[in-house]
Amino acid sequence: MALTVLPLAVLALIAGFMIQYLYRYRQQQADKALGERHGCLPAPRLQNQRPFGIDRLEQIFRADSESRLMELFLFHFRQTGNTLEQKFLGTKAYGTIEPANLEAIFSTNFKDFGMGPRRAITFPMFGDGIFTQEGPVWKHSRDMLRPQLQHKQYESLEVFRTAVDDLIHLVQQSNGTIDLQPLFFRLTLDTTTAFLFGESVRSLIIPEAVGERTFATAFNTAQQWVTKRFRLLDLYWIINGNEFQQACKDVHKFADQIIDRNLSANRDDGAQSGKYIFLDTVAQNTSDKTALRGQIINLLAAGRDTTACLLSWTFFLLVRHPHVMDKLRTEIASACGVDSNLSRDKLRKMSYLQNVLKETLRLYPSVPVNTRTTVRTTVLPTGGGPDRKSPVLIPGGSAIAFSVYSMHRRPDLYGMDAELFRPERWDEDMPMYQNPTNSKWGYLPFHGGPRICLGMDFALSEAGYTVVRLLQRFQNIKLPEGETVELIGVEKQVMTLVVAIKDGCKVEIS
Ligand code: HEM
Repeated sequence: MALTVLPLAVLALIAGFMIQYLYRYRQQQADKALGERHGCLPAPRLQNQRPFGIDRLEQIFRADSESRLMELFLFHFRQTGNTLEQKFLGTKAYGTIEPANLEAIFSTNFKDFGMGPRRAITFPMFGDGIFTQEGPVWKHSRDMLRPQLQHKQYESLEVFRTAVDDLIHLVQQSNGTIDLQPLFFRLTLDTTTAFLFGESVRSLIIPEAVGERTFATAFNTAQQWVTKRFRLLDLYWIINGNEFQQACKDVHKFADQIIDRNLSANRDDGAQSGKYIFLDTVAQNTSDKTALRGQIINLLAAGRDTTACLLSWTFFLLVRHPHVMDKLRTEIASACGVDSNLSRDKLRKMSYLQNVLKETLRLYPSVPVNTRTTVRTTVLPTGGGPDRKSPVLIPGGSAIAFSVYSMHRRPDLYGMDAELFRPERWDEDMPMYQNPTNSKWGYLPFHGGPRICLGMDFALSEAGYTVVRLLQRFQNIKLPEGETVELIGVEKQVMTLVVAIKDGCKVEIS
């Protein structure tokens, strides 16, 4: 019996290999033909020193432990070109900071790019939600969330008032020098829970009671693990551990508390108050607690850290550029004085405030680097060949990383002083305006196309409101004595899915 089965099994194995080989061969021929039709040429290669690109991985982990990961990526692009190819753990991967290519990824060839292993990498922490979903389920989540994030829902900015009052109260109690960064993370947790889930956790005033500290620590720990898993792409599963599992459990517990509290029978729900509450809509669509939890964690990740980083970097830059702070104070004084009854419309008319936020997000885009994976072979419009202008063929299944952090520092787009914080540049004629594609796709803190950030306007309103209220209330906000001032981009940074300030945002405030 065994004697007859064995040859059959060997034959089946050989046949399997041959079919796979033939399939790959056909695919390669089709890719080659597509490349020739488009005149594709290879992008410059980021050279590895050791087999399989092990040195690349070492470099990334070392730069990360030194809190200088973005500096390393910037260096790679400057050394190689704005679009590059690299061999990473034996697999080819691509990187780009070219506006025309980002237009293709986000918009024109949107259907050729998927999230790749993102869902699997983040699943233990995030579960299923808008960030990790694709296709019709993603569209459904987006449709449910869109009505919530329409600006008529927060036009008066009242949704931010309680949290900012709490923040001001806390700052007043300090001895004059304070690290604003952790407070901004609590502020955005409070506003996100208030706005999206109908009730604030008020972490600024009662952190222990709501388990905010446990949550924040667990959320940060879990995100750090997720970030490390991202770096290994398909080999993400190697990075797993008890600490990660425990952190995910704690994050889930916090989300479950939100579900229990906000969907309890005695809460004044959205329908009664006339407000659209996202959580209510999701709950009407599903009674599955795991699905609800996934959406909550995805949205907390979207709304909390991104805006907290924007606020932290804004004050980090303002106290290091007192002339910008003064100019901003002058604008606030003439637009609204000390009146705290602001509106979205009023904020939008404050052009210098908008420029300050824009310039902060240029230098420190909250999501500084991101990836997509091609679901089929596709063509990027530029970056290949000796002049780096030919189209580049990207085979199906390839990972492509893009770094808006690096793109936003390109002197050929922003001028020779691209590394300086100068909000005035947004009223000037920058080099990128010479080309319509660069002009439209050269500034992308919120990305673009069908998956553009849904909270863009909300985040800018929240940040604008917080900046104005703090400047109105505190006449003296400056760099404490002894605080380091370094060149922009040289300061130490912490990279998770967002980029935060390693040593915090300390200010002297009264
Ligand atoms: C300064 C603040 C913010 C920045 C820089 C930012 C940036 C981004 C970026 C770059 C993405 C695209 C991620 C990707 O496609 O991989 C994104 C997606 C998203 N953002 Fe934001 N975001 C901010 C604040 C917010 C806020 C406050 C909310 C909600 C309250 C929000 C909700 C979302 C959602 C729901 C998505 C997913 C969109 C989709 O996949 O269809 N964001 N954000």
